[in-house]
Amino acid sequence: MQSRLQTSPSPWLRPIAGAGALTLLLFAPSSLAQQPVNDEAAQQAFNNSCRTCHSVKEGDNRLGPNLSKIVGRKAGSLPDYNYSASMKDAGFVWDKDKLTRFMVKPDEVVSGNKMQPYGGVSADEAAKVVAYLQAVSGPQ
Ligand code: HEC
Repeated sequence: MQSRLQTSPSPWLRPIAGAGALTLLLFAPSSLAQQPVNDEAAQQAFNNSCRTCHSVKEGDNRLGPNLSKIVGRKAGSLPDYNYSASMKDAGFVWDKDKLTRFMVKPDEVVSGNKMQPYGGVSADEAAKVVAYLQAVSGPQ
């Protein structure tokens, strides 16, 4: 009798509710993938992986240099940011390809850079961030 009273129906209902949530999770990413890069997803990717250290506002340097108009900007070129020697001497202009590769593996693009601690992002995530950076850089 006592054990009966302690048995609540929720252990049976929970797995069903869980399956519903899982279905939603499984469907959401595939509907996003059909669009080129959704603005919100792009901004979210930047917020998740970069915003702790970077702003996209001109003049707003944080731990990292601001990324205003970074697509088409020369690497290590802001006068008011204290870059590592490697970044200062990188000698190239950031384009979409360089930015994507830098986000995935910073050291392969500018070895000795001081963008740390930075764990890297997937190529997918990097593509979203580039879309965001380009959108806020204005027309090229
Ligand atoms: C932990 C802080 C941190 C995070 C997170 C971070 N960065 Fe950085 N970033 C830096 C620092 C510090 C530098 C300066 C590196 C140097 O001088 O070697 C930098 C430099 C850069 C530069 C070179 C800018 C220039 O003026 O040449 C780019 C581009 C960049 N980061 C993009 C990103 C992107 C995109 C993300 C997110 C995917 C990101 N960073 C995440 C700290 C960070």
